[in-house]
Amino acid sequence: MRIIRSPRLLAQWADRLGREGVRIGLVPTMGALHAGHASLIRRARLTCDAVVVSLYVNPRQFGSGEDLGRYPRRLRADASLCRQEGVDVLFAPSDEAIYPPGFATSVSVPSLSWRWEGQFRRSHFEGVATVVTKLLCLVRPDDVFFGRKDYQQSVLISRLVADLTLRTRVVVCPTIREPDGLAVSSRNEYLSPRHRQAALVLSRALRAGLSAVRQGVREARLVRQAMVRVARQEPLARVDYFAVADPDTLEPLTRVTGPTILLGAIRVGRVRLIDNVAVRVPRGR
Ligand code: PAF
Repeated sequence: MRIIRSPRLLAQWADRLGREGVRIGLVPTMGALHAGHASLIRRARLTCDAVVVSLYVNPRQFGSGEDLGRYPRRLRADASLCRQEGVDVLFAPSDEAIYPPGFATSVSVPSLSWRWEGQFRRSHFEGVATVVTKLLCLVRPDDVFFGRKDYQQSVLISRLVADLTLRTRVVVCPTIREPDGLAVSSRNEYLSPRHRQAALVLSRALRAGLSAVRQGVREARLVRQAMVRVARQEPLARVDYFAVADPDTLEPLTRVTGPTILLGAIRVGRVRLIDNVAVRVPRGR
């Protein structure tokens, strides 16, 4: 496995492979790799001949007061996971390499950014969209892989790629969960054992929403109430939001009559956790 730090060298490597007809997969990450990232890499290896993992803690997607300073950074362990998973290139650039002096561009998808996560993390998605666009321009991958846990992010990137007619397929892969239901996330390691136990309420609340729908509840307000009621039973958790939304536009729904996404975000101590679950109601039922 090659570790590349320079965007220019990465682009040269990708261009050469592209000319040879090699199918390239990109897995963008911020490091602190875990089972969720490993599953994205494995998925990439199924459909691509060469896999690049980018590892960059992007300062532009952290708001002031967020965890940029303490975000886990461990290149050595990440490189070893990538090696084990058969990654071809690990791209680990510096801040100056990504945002050289004079960098003045930002990419935004306003209609998909301001709701839900955007209410709590104002410039987050602009930071994500900017860095992902930069990575896509550098690598020009055939496929790019994201986890479904960051649902709003995956919808926004799919929109961005379609709108800019980038020649990359966005592949959204299933959320990987711990056996007790907690969605795997780099931020889980901040949780104390007590807080980790409390964090389980998030997936429990979403499942309560899902079972309300399965029992025939169609009013989105009532499905949302079912989720909030469960979340509020956990004294260590604070609810940021629970939403019943259209899976493509992320607009809130009033009734659950077709494909729907249930989204939730809570805070446990200083840790913010997000999760989601898809609901499939046959149209008209
Ligand atoms: O999901 C993440 O880890 C980040 O938002 C991403 C896509 C790597 C952009 O920095």
